[in-house]
Amino acid sequence: MLKMNELNLTGKKLLIREDFNVPLQDGKISDDTRIRAALPTIKHALQAGAAVILISHLGRPNEGQYEPEHSLAPVAQRLSELLKQPVRFECQWLQGLHIAPGEIVLCENVRFNVGENANEDKLARQMAKLCDIFVMDAFATAHRAQASTHGVAKFAPIACAGPLLAAEIEALTRATAHPEHPVIAIVGGSKVSTKLEVLKSLVNITDQLIVGGGILNTFMAAAGLAIGSSLHEPNLIATAQAIMQAAQQKGGKIPLPIDVVVASEFGPDAKPVVKLVQEIAPSDMILDIGPQTAQHFTDILRDARTILWNGPVGVFEFEAFAQGTKTLANAIANGSAFSIAGGGDTLAAIEKFGISDKISYISTGGGAFLEFIEGKVLPALAILAQRQKA
Ligand code: 3PG
Repeated sequence: MLKMNELNLTGKKLLIREDFNVPLQDGKISDDTRIRAALPTIKHALQAGAAVILISHLGRPNEGQYEPEHSLAPVAQRLSELLKQPVRFECQWLQGLHIAPGEIVLCENVRFNVGENANEDKLARQMAKLCDIFVMDAFATAHRAQASTHGVAKFAPIACAGPLLAAEIEALTRATAHPEHPVIAIVGGSKVSTKLEVLKSLVNITDQLIVGGGILNTFMAAAGLAIGSSLHEPNLIATAQAIMQAAQQKGGKIPLPIDVVVASEFGPDAKPVVKLVQEIAPSDMILDIGPQTAQHFTDILRDARTILWNGPVGVFEFEAFAQGTKTLANAIANGSAFSIAGGGDTLAAIEKFGISDKISYISTGGGAFLEFIEGKVLPALAILAQRQKA
């Protein structure tokens, strides 16, 4: 696909699709990672003498109405602090904008417009009219076929991939399409159901697949181990068995824990008890992997040349159950494998354990990260490739 860095941007009006879908608490941004990730592209465009119009969604508002809790106004303010330059915030922008080279405008939430989610051509054409060049840089929203991610790329005079999007694709392709082996993936989180497709595809591209969190509980039940009153999905036990068999047929396996950390209740003050898996009682809730298991998984990770990480292996938000995730995070950080991590919880864990600069690539994508690994076609990427061929 055409890349922004290949184009002459001087004097051009750029419409850049960002993913500024950041978490807000009491109207304040609690994590600005996605805003920071967008900065190099914006700075590059400004330095090249372009006029920069930014669009993004925030949350999932009801289309056609203004909802103050989903306004991008706090993002405009943060962006202006980070760029050390004014960022004009525009609520009425669809009919046209006056903007000079070197200026930045952030438009109000694209999802306030009727037709955004349904990818309506009429809306996409209005967006396309705003610019000379449309730049898709919102990798985290590339799995959505919406007017601001897909439709606009059909109608803009020129449509290209921004540097962040290009870097994401390059890193993910390196880890999935032609990775250096052994490839090890860690998939944690609470539910198999939300990661089913990614687990199925990872079995095919990895040499070992480590599962953790509530997902591991379902796999333990599938292996016939007692899991007490731990969170799991009984209706997916057969599926977990099939995934384990598929892994075995490939010569790999999904390692089961030796020990776990249990508690009799869920909460920050719950008392942690380390137990061997054979000792788990009916009232026990598994909230983390145990130290022997963490060591075993660390040994597996030591041999890896490529590591894909999505999801914590325990309730790392609570200090007493954070050790397993911390141990694996450090194993990744201290190893020499090409490592790539994605997903909100994973990024929070990386931040908490202070290892951001030791992960080879941290993706801004959540759902998009998973869908890329699953091998799905991301509509926003497909349309850019199509425009390039035409
Ligand atoms: C995300 O946070 O994963 C992206 O911004 C996409 O948001 P959405 O799931 O509301 O489309």
